[in-house]
Amino acid sequence: MTEPVEGPLTGPRIILFTGKGGVGKSTLASGTAAYSAAAGRRTLVLSTDAAHSLADAFGVEVGAEPTQVADNLFVQQVDAQLRFEQSWAEVQSYLLSVLDIAGVDPVAAEELTVLPGAEEIFALLELREHALSGGWDMLIVDCAPTAETLRLLAMPEAMGWYMQRVFGLQRRVVKVLKPVLTRASGMPMPGDSVFDAIERLHAELDQVREMLSGPRASVRLVLTPERVVLAEARRSFTTLSLFGYPVDGVVANRVFPVEEGDDWRAGWVKAQQEVLADVEASFAGLSVWRSVYRPCEPVGAEALGNLAAEVYAGTDPLADPSVTRPLRVTRTRNGAVLRLALPYATLDDVDLARNGDELVVTVGSYRRLLALPASLSRHQVTAARVDNGELQVRFEERT
Ligand SMILES: Nc1ncnc2c1ncn2[C@@H]1O[C@H](COP(=O)(O)OP(=O)(O)OP(=O)(O)O)[C@@H](O)[C@H]1O
Ligand SMILES: [Mg+2]
Repeated sequence: MTEPVEGPLTGPRIILFTGKGGVGKSTLASGTAAYSAAAGRRTLVLSTDAAHSLADAFGVEVGAEPTQVADNLFVQQVDAQLRFEQSWAEVQSYLLSVLDIAGVDPVAAEELTVLPGAEEIFALLELREHALSGGWDMLIVDCAPTAETLRLLAMPEAMGWYMQRVFGLQRRVVKVLKPVLTRASGMPMPGDSVFDAIERLHAELDQVREMLSGPRASVRLVLTPERVVLAEARRSFTTLSLFGYPVDGVVANRVFPVEEGDDWRAGWVKAQQEVLADVEASFAGLSVWRSVYRPCEPVGAEALGNLAAEVYAGTDPLADPSVTRPLRVTRTRNGAVLRLALPYATLDDVDLARNGDELVVTVGSYRRLLALPASLSRHQVTAARVDNGELQVRFEERT
């Protein structure tokens, strides 16, 4: 008998929805979940957000455990605070006691032991548990607005660093000094349970990152056709790529139908169409879906499922993300290499221009605007080449 293979390859499909505040993340996440459930997949949609937006979208009460709202469809509002208290509070209070004896100012100590973004981290741990449970075909996450989500997604790495610095050191010191310390200074020794909790957390967060950058997970950006919203979505795209989280598509929501109307309406339609053309240019190679502005709020599994069916018409929105990613950013010792799929192009065809924190790539009549992640905005382009249908741009720190 062979053991079943565990790991991201065999886990459920995971789709994260993110975007600027109020653009329709909860609506599209819920709609996609309703669509997935209607297609016969056992689906859970969960929110990392403290506001009860999923409950509002489905028009039902939703608890901290998966609540069934339709055939195959479950909704959960993660109680991150509760999880936090269960797993981190013990560690924090231990660290505080140590820092107190070491004479660290209590305010500074509090600052040192607090985990940035802890609530969101614990919501991701909930996602991990569901992914490993084997009980779901599809997990959909309604994330907090862009900034928080990026921070949270980058967190597993930051956490690794934090763990190594704080606890690696701590553990070595404790090992060496343990006999002396307990007798001489009354320094409280961490029980095995504290170390176990830390190590477990570290390992679990590693798995979360692996899962979210694995072959069955992707991020979908929601935006409305407005310049500022698009600018933020472009930044998210490059930042997510930098961290290795694949973006598989963009949903432009609240698009006005192009119909007869008064001047006010015609003005908005025209402005939106211009931004939508830029959306296509910014995310070429990805699916770009459009969702019309409905005359009323889509509430309930049926209305949400209908919205998604209309948005995704003619495509397969539940398929695994394609392995060829249009944009990849890999870090190097003193900068990064940005790789952009440009099938059929040669370097002679490509024109590169730097415009503040944007890189403008022009190939013939095709123009691509890439917002550079903040970590690269102080770097300069030192080399560019086209290799095998891929543009590679090297960034190095200014010396
Ligand atoms: N295409 C649409 N047509 C009509 N109403 C919409 C549409 N998309 C979203 N809405 C409504 O707009 C409001 C905001 O949408 P939603 O809650 O999905 O945004 P969000 O991005 O999740 O917001 P937040 O950042 O606050 O979490 C909701 O009342 C929702 O019903
Ligand atoms: Mg929301």
